Amino acid sequence: MRSEYCGLVNRDHLGRTITLCGWVHRRRDHGGVIFIDLRDREGIVQVVSDPDRAETFRTADRLRNEYVIEVRGMVRERPAGTVNPDLPSGGIEVLAETISILNTALTPPFQLDEENLNENVRLEHRVIDLRRPFMQRNLRLRYRAAMAVRRYLDGHGFIDIETPMLTRSTPEGARDYLVPSRVHSGEFYALPQSPQLFKQMLMVAGFDRYYQIVRCFRDEDLRADRQPEFTQIDVETSFLDQAGITHIMEDLVREVFREVLGVTLPPFPRLAFDEAIARYGSDKPDLRVTLELTELTDVMKEVAFKVFSGPANVPGGRVAGLRVPGGAALTRGEIDGYTEFARAHGAKGLAWIKVNDASQLNENGLQSPIVKNLSDAALRAVIERSGAENGDIVFFGGDRAKVVNDTLGALRARIGHERGHAVSGWKPLWVLDFPMFEWDEEGRRWNAMHHPFTSPADGHEELLQSDPGAARAKAHDMVLNGWEIGGGSVRIHRREVQAKVFAALGIGPDEAQSKFGFLLEALQYGAPPHGGIAFGLDRIVALMAGVDSIRDVIAFPKTQRAQCLLTRAPGAVDERQLRELHIRLRQADRK
Ligand code: AMO
Ligand code: AMP
Repeated sequence: MRSEYCGLVNRDHLGRTITLCGWVHRRRDHGGVIFIDLRDREGIVQVVSDPDRAETFRTADRLRNEYVIEVRGMVRERPAGTVNPDLPSGGIEVLAETISILNTALTPPFQLDEENLNENVRLEHRVIDLRRPFMQRNLRLRYRAAMAVRRYLDGHGFIDIETPMLTRSTPEGARDYLVPSRVHSGEFYALPQSPQLFKQMLMVAGFDRYYQIVRCFRDEDLRADRQPEFTQIDVETSFLDQAGITHIMEDLVREVFREVLGVTLPPFPRLAFDEAIARYGSDKPDLRVTLELTELTDVMKEVAFKVFSGPANVPGGRVAGLRVPGGAALTRGEIDGYTEFARAHGAKGLAWIKVNDASQLNENGLQSPIVKNLSDAALRAVIERSGAENGDIVFFGGDRAKVVNDTLGALRARIGHERGHAVSGWKPLWVLDFPMFEWDEEGRRWNAMHHPFTSPADGHEELLQSDPGAARAKAHDMVLNGWEIGGGSVRIHRREVQAKVFAALGIGPDEAQSKFGFLLEALQYGAPPHGGIAFGLDRIVALMAGVDSIRDVIAFPKTQRAQCLLTRAPGAVDERQLRELHIRLRQADRK
């Protein structure tokens, strides 16, 4: 029907008669002449209808926002003074010869160019929302990124192999989405949290290099960077060690950024997990922020201030500082605001010292509610280790290490961006040398930090039994601007090592057999050394698009409460369907 896209009409078309199809973005009646902004996926062009063509003009007069029309007309220069420099088509317009209405439209629930739209309204009327240039741009960016990924991986010998969606529970450790079986009464499939076990079996099967852009399902607490179904770029290779895997995966991300954004990413520093926690309080540090934490646990053991000496003297406790240059200018109200923020992250308070004169380590030089309870040695260490100068503030956390890290880590990122202690651009890194296990205080047991198929570091096999907390893993996370965009590992490919890891996790031989027997069997038939990674495609694209939430790069996302407001999923089902599935709802759960 059309000869050009609206958004692509330009000076090259001057004098030509063209046909356009699209939606009425806006109609303006300028006393005798009607202007129509006509929109399609490529953008907007101005159409003019004048009364000389009476029938066309009458049609133009009937147009309302979001009507679908076909326009035939000649491209001409806009009169001087009416050129719109913001549009590619801003120097020209189309003088309508004919206009046909292909479809009418109800008044949309919101204006397409309205700003600060409520997200629930957007999600409820997602079809209209997706028409907005912002969403059109984001989804096309996503497509280009996915294509760049495919091109790269195809060019490096990876092949795309599909894996089942109806499967058994996988080992990522989130809650499963379950699907009841009609044929097998009382039994359930689980939707995959990732293709982890299948990709490992594909390596045993000899495919050597696998990838898949694949949907994963996790029933977990949702946030801006988490959806119940999300998309992984899932990769596995055989016969590459960790250096080889990280090298090729870094190259992939580099290439995608170059191709899609024209951006050359800087070198990826490699940070050990322990160092990341010590310096940034986080295993996904935003390296755009230039602030760092200062370790103070050792110097706070003897001080009178119990808030610090308490945690400094118990295993698993930490006292640390966060120096903010120029922070002595913060008002009482601003400090209270940060204290509330720290509380929201689990801290009991947020002690601080303003440095007015660093040569006087007492209440004359240091303004603070806690100075009188700290020793000279402690105060000297605070100033020297943090590098604090006159005019700075140092914030403190003292608690279980996790609380201190969460609080000061989050505060570091917030203050860094808020008060200009951050650079712009892209700051990728690898985090390596993760612990094999983390201690679950409630369950009183060790959990796999990555997943139970991750290989221990060379020489750490013995630690699995003797000192599980000290064992390190061959795991790798890729982090970009404070987001974990990918995680993976070298896998265990020998059965006896796998058995030791299961033992450390308290998974007995019977449980291992019933949960993962198929993988354990495969490992015995000549499993090659193998490993890989999975990237969060939604997160990568959200970063590329410069948006805060992955919902803005997913066509039909769910809310924080895991609902689709468009289709109203999840929804109730018929009694008959339930009966077929051998399910009876408890009284309390009936809708
Ligand atoms: P992991 O659990 O680290 O590893 O997941 C890999 C990457 O997927 C993204 N991601 C998510 N994105 C959006 N919403 C979610 N709910 C969500 N959960 C995870 C993150 C994360 O880095 N099988 C292993 C990979 C491997 O070992 O190869 C796995 O799934 O960006
Ligand atoms: P208090 O002795 O309770 O008046 O606290 C003195 C200062 O220490 C206040 O600024 C509190 O916000 C702060 N504070 C209290 N508990 C902690 C903690 N666990 N970590 C860091 N600062 C704290």
